[in-house]
Amino acid sequence: VTNITTVDRFPVFHSFIDLAHHYWEKLLQEGDWAIDATCGNGHDIFKLAGILLGKQGTVIGIDRQQEAISRTHDLLQSGFSNEERARLHLFCQSHTHFPLLVENNPIRLIVYNLGYLPKGNKQITTMTQSTLESVRKALDLIVPGGAISITCYPGHEEGGREEKALLQEMSHLSSLIWNVCYHTIPNRFLAPSLLWIQKNQH
Ligand SMILES: C[S@@+](CC[C@H](N)C(=O)[O-])C[C@H]1O[C@@H](n2cnc3c(N)ncnc32)[C@H](O)[C@@H]1O
Repeated sequence: VTNITTVDRFPVFHSFIDLAHHYWEKLLQEGDWAIDATCGNGHDIFKLAGILLGKQGTVIGIDRQQEAISRTHDLLQSGFSNEERARLHLFCQSHTHFPLLVENNPIRLIVYNLGYLPKGNKQITTMTQSTLESVRKALDLIVPGGAISITCYPGHEEGGREEKALLQEMSHLSSLIWNVCYHTIPNRFLAPSLLWIQKNQH
């Protein structure tokens, strides 16, 4: 029996999170700032930290649940030097407001992985109105050439509403300033999707 691993079956990427991580690696440069607006269990911010902290970059993590911030904090205890961890900042608050620390800094990437905390309270999920409010503010923070990466989960009710509302609003952004790219898996019902919203360089 041949043991087919996920990597063998999907040689380029095996989920939209994986695809998003490729994009982040390609985008982020020396000294950049990145924000994870939904830290959750910390896997995405761990990836951002791995890309940026060795390049003198700064990484900000936000989650409204203390449980998520604690899990993220624990995950980030290994793999980074004290000097690198000094450029990593976690905030327990809603992403409807970004911390003052981000103002006037070169924010090249803001990421959202929507939904609820895996292995946590499924009632506490991102909500359409607050997600839109946050993404509108995120659009103002991104430097030219930077991007917003949003993984959506239409498989649950609020996630479906959220994806629809985001698509509706983002598809009206001026193409003189923004490139909005929407990735789906049309042969998989209610599969997660990735919205990649990139600001033009000039
Ligand atoms: C799917 S999880 C994120 C997964 C995470 N990025 C990871 O790598 O493990 C979604 C997270 O969004 C958080 N969240 C929900 N509403 C929020 C809000 N208004 N502001 C900030 N975080 C929020 C939840 O607490 C949850 O931890």
